[in-house]
Amino acid sequence: MPKKMILDCDPGHDDAIALLLAHGNPEVELVAVTTVHGNQTIDKVTRNALAVARIAGITGVPFAAGAHRPLVREVETAGTIHGDSGMDGPTLPEPTLILDDRHAVDLIIDTIMASEPGEITLVPTGALTNIALAVRKEPRIASRVKEVVLMGGGYHGGNWSAAAEFNIVIDPEAAHIVFNEPWKLTMVGLDLTHQALATPDVVAAIAAVDTAPARFVLELLEFFGPRYKEAQGFDSPPVHDPCAVALVIDPSVMDVVPVPLDVELTGTLTLGMTVADFRAPAPADCTTHAATNLDHAKFWHLIVDALERIGDPAPS
Ligand code: BDR
Ligand code: CA
Repeated sequence: MPKKMILDCDPGHDDAIALLLAHGNPEVELVAVTTVHGNQTIDKVTRNALAVARIAGITGVPFAAGAHRPLVREVETAGTIHGDSGMDGPTLPEPTLILDDRHAVDLIIDTIMASEPGEITLVPTGALTNIALAVRKEPRIASRVKEVVLMGGGYHGGNWSAAAEFNIVIDPEAAHIVFNEPWKLTMVGLDLTHQALATPDVVAAIAAVDTAPARFVLELLEFFGPRYKEAQGFDSPPVHDPCAVALVIDPSVMDVVPVPLDVELTGTLTLGMTVADFRAPAPADCTTHAATNLDHAKFWHLIVDALERIGDPAPS
């Protein structure tokens, strides 16, 4: 039985690849895609998500737009990495999917409450605003989801500040809510995703697929790569968001350890830091986990395999 997944994202170059991976892998059934402010404004990332749906040939999955701003703070976008559109580089097709008329928060709640307990995996790859709002509006989702596997945070340091990662620091209050709910939560943070580098051999393997979605991924990487080199000194860009999807598909793709985690809300230099307490073995009732080591070859094989399965979707 495929695992039912809600992807809550802010496409975003790497979010787009996460969406392709979730759609193209038979272990996953995408049951909803929701968008949240982040890499760009909500209207831009929502349009990008719908464009990716068209490129990937995704039909029959509800897409809904979510929070346009963080719970407390002002909107902060990542145009320096993702460009003015949030997904600069490729020429995007006009979307053909019609957005679900529910708010993302309601689509998330409805989908979880209409499913069997333990059936839905929540995969947030953007700010945690929608997820925090959903669990505040309908607290029963906390015991009803299978788990939350999110891209965000890190236990060694940040990328948006010295201490904090982008998805967490742009809405730290939301992240604090999500990290402190009693659901099983796995943080696929920078410690892990900085191993998911799109090295030249990976780029060659994607090029060899030679389909429109594969060429789209190459164009994403062509834009993303130099931005990461300039901003953070990477020779090959880290492709963060699909790592969370990959963990749901195949837990052997990375090591995960239980560790108490919390989100810093008051530090002057450390706002949005995800603090991991590695001082002692995690207590037996620890619900939070952190991803540590990635099997690079296995991870990229999943991406290439998904692109091969997607093929060249019929024009819609
Ligand atoms: C995260 O921030 C966003 O810019 C990416 O899409 C990813 O989710 C990496 O810090
Ligand atoms: Ca993202």
